[in-house]
Amino acid sequence: MPDLPPPPALPDAFREILGPQGLLTAPEDIAPALSDWRGLYRGEAMALLRPASTEEVAACVRLCAAHRIAIIPQGGNTSMVGGATPEARPGQVVLSLARMNRVREIDPLDMTMTVEAGLVLARAQQIAAEHGCLFPLSLGAEGSAMIGGLLSTNAGGNTTVRYGNARELMLGLEVVLPDGSVIHGLRRLRKDNTGYALRHLFVGAEGTLGVITAAVLRLFPAPRETATALCALPDEDAALALFRRFRAADEGAVRAFEYISGAGMDALLATIEGAVLPLAAPARHYALVDLTASREGAGLAALMEGVLEAAMEAGEVLDAAIAGSEAQRAAIWRLREEQPEAQKRAGASVKNDVSVPVSRVPEMIRRCSAALTALIPGSRPVPFGHLGDGNIHMNLLQPEGMEPAAFLARSEEIMHAVNDIVRELGGSFSAEHGVGRLKTGMLAEWRGGAELAAMRAIKAALDPLGIMNPGKLLPGG
Ligand code: FAD
Ligand code: MLT
Ligand code: ZN
Repeated sequence: MPDLPPPPALPDAFREILGPQGLLTAPEDIAPALSDWRGLYRGEAMALLRPASTEEVAACVRLCAAHRIAIIPQGGNTSMVGGATPEARPGQVVLSLARMNRVREIDPLDMTMTVEAGLVLARAQQIAAEHGCLFPLSLGAEGSAMIGGLLSTNAGGNTTVRYGNARELMLGLEVVLPDGSVIHGLRRLRKDNTGYALRHLFVGAEGTLGVITAAVLRLFPAPRETATALCALPDEDAALALFRRFRAADEGAVRAFEYISGAGMDALLATIEGAVLPLAAPARHYALVDLTASREGAGLAALMEGVLEAAMEAGEVLDAAIAGSEAQRAAIWRLREEQPEAQKRAGASVKNDVSVPVSRVPEMIRRCSAALTALIPGSRPVPFGHLGDGNIHMNLLQPEGMEPAAFLARSEEIMHAVNDIVRELGGSFSAEHGVGRLKTGMLAEWRGGAELAAMRAIKAALDPLGIMNPGKLLPGG
């Protein structure tokens, strides 16, 4: 994209579209939007645009196109791959969807909810619950992440095993294209075979093809029964065996099946105030099992006890704590959800958001852990995550006492060590966080040839000026 200096009158032109509330230019006001959650990147922008309507987004995009100004769409700014952080050069704008947070329509009969892109996930869940429904997407960043960001990354999270990724929870989209035109696709249809499913192009596009301004989301019946347990396990194979047991007993009941390493749990108990292990002794491996049913009298408590008893007899489970109240359930979930925060507090860490076929998860964890400790002696593998989807965060904590910068300088080597094994196991280098800025250099290696050429052709067709989130997703894009 040509780097033309922005005309001096540009802020006034944006202010005219957005009003005083919709434009921030003071460095202290825009600073939080210029860096990422992990603290890996810091960028520059001449303004933070905060439109309040689709028309305002479209007018801003038209103005940016006219002046070749790069636009970085931003939701909750919780990207793990620097996807929402501008590059370190002047003349760009960050476009925040935060003010577009209305629920336009909710229909418990059609089981749909039409919402704007800036609606925070936790609020979407709450509103669905107030209408007797469930919006099932759930992840640690749900207090900040917004619907537009979640769809743009095709977020997964804890409930993918039952409800699918963000893509599967979307029926229709409204999108402002890079020329400022608008796709009005807020249809709530379960069937709509009308050519290319354009809406799906923007899911997982990480803001490189347009700005999602609203979406029709699928709702589900609210759960009436739950059963949650934290299990101590002897090894990684036991985690997979336990998952299979629950799936065989009642696949439809498994809302989440999460793995946590012993090292990750130790780091959490040492860094997160009030976190308590509800088991007699620490273990080297844990699984969190969460069952739900929308039918009362589903017998989930008996199901949980029965499966755990059989697994204990088989030596697959060493000990288990079953939540006896909502507070205990939340306390168990906290041991899982605070893993990213605990790893942040425990020093420098390198994240590897990878996936393999579910059956290969134990081998992947074992081989990667061995490769990483051989690469950096004293480093601590802290794998955890969505075992039921074959998506483990194969993260690595720095050795105690090592200079964080010296450890982070080896990030590429660490990621490659993991990726080499993941490739052999038929997996992916990017499971649910996206490619963002962190992994653009890897895309050609993993999705080269016709796949990358098709992606580039789509990008060139929709965004010929290259103004949408440059430097993200596509190498050199
Ligand atoms: P942002 O970070 O603001 O943006 C993400 C990307 O989407 C960027 O490329 C941005 O340009 C683009 N974008 C944002 N809004 C729009 C829009 N309206 N239109 C077009 N493009 C847009 N992810 C998971 O998948 N599963 C997890 O379990 C998970 N757990 C997490 C836990 C923690 C503690 C944290 C910090 C993050 C976690 N993430 C997880 C990553 C992150 O939360 C997700 O990627 C989420 O989808 C990002 O939403 P956001 O609103 O913060 O988007
Ligand atoms: C999570 O599942 O908590 C995040 O996606 C993973 C991470 O922090 O690496
Ligand atoms: Zn995750």
